[in-house]
Amino acid sequence: MPRVIRPNQKQRLESMDKTAVLKIGDDTYDFPIIVGSEGERAVIVEKLRNQSGFITFDEGYGNTGSCKSAITFIDGEKGILRYRGYPVEQMAENSTFLESAYLVIYGELPTQPQLEDFEGRVSRNAGLHSDMEHHFEGFPADAHPMAIMSALLNSLGCFHPEMSSNNRKQDLEHFDDAATFIISKARTIAAMSYRKKMNLPVVESRQDLNYAENFLHMMFSESDHPYDPSENKEASRAVDLFFLLHADHEQNCSTSTVRMVASSHANLFASVSSGVCALWGPLHGGANTAVIKMLESIRESGDDGQLFIEGAKSGKHKLMGFGHRVYKNFDPRTKIITKALDKVLKTLGREDPLLDIARHLEKVALSDDYFIKRRLYPNVDFYSGILLRAIGIPLDMFPVMFAIGRMPGWIANWKELADGSHSHIHRPRQIYTGSTTRDYVPMDKRS
Ligand code: SDX
Repeated sequence: MPRVIRPNQKQRLESMDKTAVLKIGDDTYDFPIIVGSEGERAVIVEKLRNQSGFITFDEGYGNTGSCKSAITFIDGEKGILRYRGYPVEQMAENSTFLESAYLVIYGELPTQPQLEDFEGRVSRNAGLHSDMEHHFEGFPADAHPMAIMSALLNSLGCFHPEMSSNNRKQDLEHFDDAATFIISKARTIAAMSYRKKMNLPVVESRQDLNYAENFLHMMFSESDHPYDPSENKEASRAVDLFFLLHADHEQNCSTSTVRMVASSHANLFASVSSGVCALWGPLHGGANTAVIKMLESIRESGDDGQLFIEGAKSGKHKLMGFGHRVYKNFDPRTKIITKALDKVLKTLGREDPLLDIARHLEKVALSDDYFIKRRLYPNVDFYSGILLRAIGIPLDMFPVMFAIGRMPGWIANWKELADGSHSHIHRPRQIYTGSTTRDYVPMDKRS
């Protein structure tokens, strides 16, 4: 059944009962139906256990709505992604990361004064407290930047206790500052973790540069070769677009983690820090790194991709960057990323053999029944790593780039939950499958 009601089915829905009937044995139970603004439907089962003693079981929550949200809408069947109703294609074409961040967080496109104020607060708050620099020394030289990002975002709250009190009312009063601090300083933490790892001096942010330019400046400026925005226009535009395309994505694994942590009334810093940990996994934000490693291993093996595809079909490994929990036709972000990638490579006059391999893999996979039957298509991560590579971002920084881009979405979801009327702590149930009751066995009786 399509996830979204087509216009001609709207009437059927309106005439449809507003309740669902569940029959268990000789008993029947009525549950209310909720319909979202895009016609998505759900059965509200909040009273199921009280009424029937049953719970629902939906491992991985693929059929379970954890919340009502007005931030982002995805239609996986039609490849639709909208931030607060605005199609991602139009945002990519006309907007910037910070304007999109404002929209995702506050719900409306900013007026010029609102945007200038937001950009100014982000720009002015890029610096870290000098004591935070010592945290970097506490990590081994080869520490993964996602571990550093998560740790430092959480510790950032310690330097702003008035914003991270875990008193929901107080934390909401300081939300605007906390949001801009996190968006601005996540970029600084990322750049600093790179500089420290490369044993390079830390580069102070510049207030005359836009968000993405400042990031590239803090990453790559050298005293004898300061970052020159005019030399790197295409690169900074591509970085800004990369962040914009990752700004939010409904209740994905990391955003759901942020909501889970926020539901205990934990502060915004602790909540986004947990989001970084969830995003790190190779099935989620770690996939862009895994795609590059996959393409490099294919290139080194001399395989044209056919062998690798056979391995993916036999379950030996996954075709990283393919498949999605929701998109079952195409990921709209992929098309936009590949356009930007072509532009960057053309401007830089660069070729990347990994791109040829990726394109060949996509062509072969999209005509192969295994992938067609399972509706597996390239997701945002399939080409995004090649774009970051072209710009010179180091491989282990790829998930960090995803995290910087996703900050507005995590922040917006924390706020939506914090403002919301449904203030229960998130606490799913389970179906217990372990041993039934048994008595303690003294040591001398154990085999
Ligand atoms: C992101 O949720 C979001 O919105 C995430 C994200 C965001 O913006 O936040 O869009 C970002 O995380 C994108 C996804 C990045 N991850 C990868 O590219 C890793 C590779 N992809 C897979 O691990 C997988 O496709 C997932 C995790 C993305 C989705 O997994 P599902 O929907 O749970 O799919 P599944 O595991 O139920 O697989 C269904 C079938 C299985 O085969 P059968 O058991 O039916 O025989 O498809 C197969 C899977 O083995 N399959 C794959 C595959 N993905 C699924 N086979 C080979 N290669 C793959 N990539």
